[in-house]
Amino acid sequence: MATQNQTDFELGKYYLDQTPNEIQRLELQYAFIKAGFGHRDILELPLDFSKAGELNILDIAAGSGAWILDVVKIPQVQSRLSPTGAADPVNIFACDLSPTKFPKSVTDPLGIHFFVQDVTKPFPEEMYGTFDLIHIGLLCFALTSEGWGQALPNIHRLLKPGGLLLQTEYNTGVSPPKKSIADIPICDIDTYVNTGSSVVDRANSIMMWSAYRNDFLVGFCARYPPMLESASFTILSVKYFDLPYGAARSNDQRSTPDHALFNLEAFMDTGSRSLLSQDDLEIPRGHKITTEEERKRALEDLVRDIRDKEGCFSGLAEWVIQKPL
Ligand SMILES: C[S@@+](CC[C@H](N)C(=O)[O-])C[C@H]1O[C@@H](n2cnc3c(N)ncnc32)[C@H](O)[C@@H]1O
Repeated sequence: MATQNQTDFELGKYYLDQTPNEIQRLELQYAFIKAGFGHRDILELPLDFSKAGELNILDIAAGSGAWILDVVKIPQVQSRLSPTGAADPVNIFACDLSPTKFPKSVTDPLGIHFFVQDVTKPFPEEMYGTFDLIHIGLLCFALTSEGWGQALPNIHRLLKPGGLLLQTEYNTGVSPPKKSIADIPICDIDTYVNTGSSVVDRANSIMMWSAYRNDFLVGFCARYPPMLESASFTILSVKYFDLPYGAARSNDQRSTPDHALFNLEAFMDTGSRSLLSQDDLEIPRGHKITTEEERKRALEDLVRDIRDKEGCFSGLAEWVIQKPL
């Protein structure tokens, strides 16, 4: 049984909770991703809030609750939360593998029902076919390809026919900019991780290599849509943007703190520590690192070069997906 003091990493379940200040990291990440997609209203969705009848919404792998707390601020939702006694309530549920990051003292009074749930395991049967909208986001560094193969049928079972799944994910590593998601090919690991010394090569020797070592979907944005289709989902739309880091930011962007680079650094710190512990850290590939001191120096050099010299990007995709009627 998890206690509030244990992280999922200590429990051996979730790789990124080694990151210090994980809650703060998730909050900042949510804000810069939302801004990157240009969302003012997070629910720019084909979901009709004016329609009479109960609506059920679920945030899976809710983390710090950033998305669900944004949803409850929407006026059409706020006035129909279950504690308001509205005739047509909007019932909100959230779950995560771990309860440690979820702000129950804030969400309980709003009537948000939180439960502990591994998305790769069956959900309670009474929830099957009950949800109008499910959100899941940023699990590309949490679920293996086998894990997605288990999670997608579970999510499918939870949705009503015609229900929507909203999902945001990174394309796993960093790259030069792409024009659209269609420019992301399915490649094998050797295409992503090679022995060059550019910031992309060095960053991917940590990001892509640790994704590969953990059997996550390397090049997520290209590999995931066929999995959705195999699980009988229909993709209604996809938005894509390239998140810039460091020197790749525009002059306007450079006047604000580079939270995205802080986030990337935290990812790379976690990934490189994990690879070093497996005696498999090379930055770039071909240049083996064997001590903590070398690891820290290589990471500092890399972050400084991204900030001051080359810059790089991470692709992010947001899909609106439907369980067909
Ligand atoms: C990167 S965080 C994203 C949190 C949130 N979705 C967001 O966008 O800010 C990933 C979350 O997934 C949770 N998680 C990891 N593996 C999971 C699993 N198998 N089932 C459910 N949740 C999982 C972690 O505990 C963590 O809170």
